[in-house]
Amino acid sequence: MMTLDKKVEDLKVLFSETELQSKIKELATAIENDIPEDEEIYVICVLKGSVMFCADLVKHFKHPIQMEFIRISSYGHETRSTNNLQAIDLTLPDLHNKNVVIVEDIIDTGLTARFLTDLFKIKHQPKKLLFVSLLNKKCARQIDIEPDFFGYEIDDKFVVGYGLDYKGYYRNLPYIGYFPC
Ligand code: IMP
Ligand code: MG
Repeated sequence: MMTLDKKVEDLKVLFSETELQSKIKELATAIENDIPEDEEIYVICVLKGSVMFCADLVKHFKHPIQMEFIRISSYGHETRSTNNLQAIDLTLPDLHNKNVVIVEDIIDTGLTARFLTDLFKIKHQPKKLLFVSLLNKKCARQIDIEPDFFGYEIDDKFVVGYGLDYKGYYRNLPYIGYFPC
């Protein structure tokens, strides 16, 4: 029996499934417009949070794409960023001179985005590096960094669903919501 202190019945929907899907289509078009049609794109899905967003985003791409998966954790089981990044799996092919799109669920403090951007620039030296995040919690930023593309700017509230979790739960919801205090 699951004993979770936050219940799905209490969730308030922030972005419905329909809203998310149309925003994602827009984002895919904007990203593709930035890269010549005949060139390959390496899409980097940052697990676990980006799993849904990345899967839906790539369905719209017409460029030839390769998908890679890396895994990073910064929250543990808290609802605040711990400022303690854990790089769990950063295994990647050689991306030198490739078009790379990093796909994140949300930028909060900016720590993960900064770490990844620096890592890719220094280690991989891609031809083009784009950072896309579905959500942008701009008001929680501790590091001065902005994504190249984002879906929605949100207030400093903890959100779940569509890949985003609370204690590992709620990633499977097709919408994004929050627990009102
Ligand atoms: P940052 O390094 O503080 O920008 O945090 C980035 C990571 O923290 C994201 O990729 C998410 O996985 C997680 N995160 C940040 N805010 C939330 C939230 O509101 N709900 C769930 N996870 C979040
Ligand atoms: Mg994430």
